[in-house]
Amino acid sequence: MERTFAIIKPDAFAAGHAGKILERIYAEGFKVVGLKKLFLSKAEAEGFYYVHKDRPFFGELTDFMSSGPCIVMVLEAENAIKKWRDLMGATNPAEAAEGTLRREFGTSIGENATHGSDAPETAAFEISYFFSGMELL
Ligand code: PPS
Repeated sequence: MERTFAIIKPDAFAAGHAGKILERIYAEGFKVVGLKKLFLSKAEAEGFYYVHKDRPFFGELTDFMSSGPCIVMVLEAENAIKKWRDLMGATNPAEAAEGTLRREFGTSIGENATHGSDAPETAAFEISYFFSGMELL
């Protein structure tokens, strides 16, 4: 079993898609071992996306992620990291495959409905950024 970190981003939350995304998460066989609703500050978003700090879209990305409530989660499954990224689809919703969450709920490369860790080290950092061990059941 593997754990990954996931976000239902502010665009999807504001549009009322959180319930539908959670339904897909359960239907695909993930166990939700941690979940909370947060309204990130700009500084918290900057800390989370620190790895992208030199990229041209950093300001836009962190403004967006601190623009409204989101849901942060820890998902558990076999090969959870790849399984969740496959379910999300490509970063750009326009390039995401039919049936993926970003294709269905994303509207642009920035406002793309969901986030998922891309590697085990990233998942470890991202989970610990938002959750303590005793919050993961
Ligand atoms: S990935 O999945 O890390 O390979 O994707 P990447 O292209 O490196 O993008 C990293 C995150 O930055 C967001 N992004 C953008 N936001 C705003 N504007 C533009 N142009 C833009 N391009 C990329 C993208 O949604 C990724 O967010 P996360 O939350 O990591 O999926």
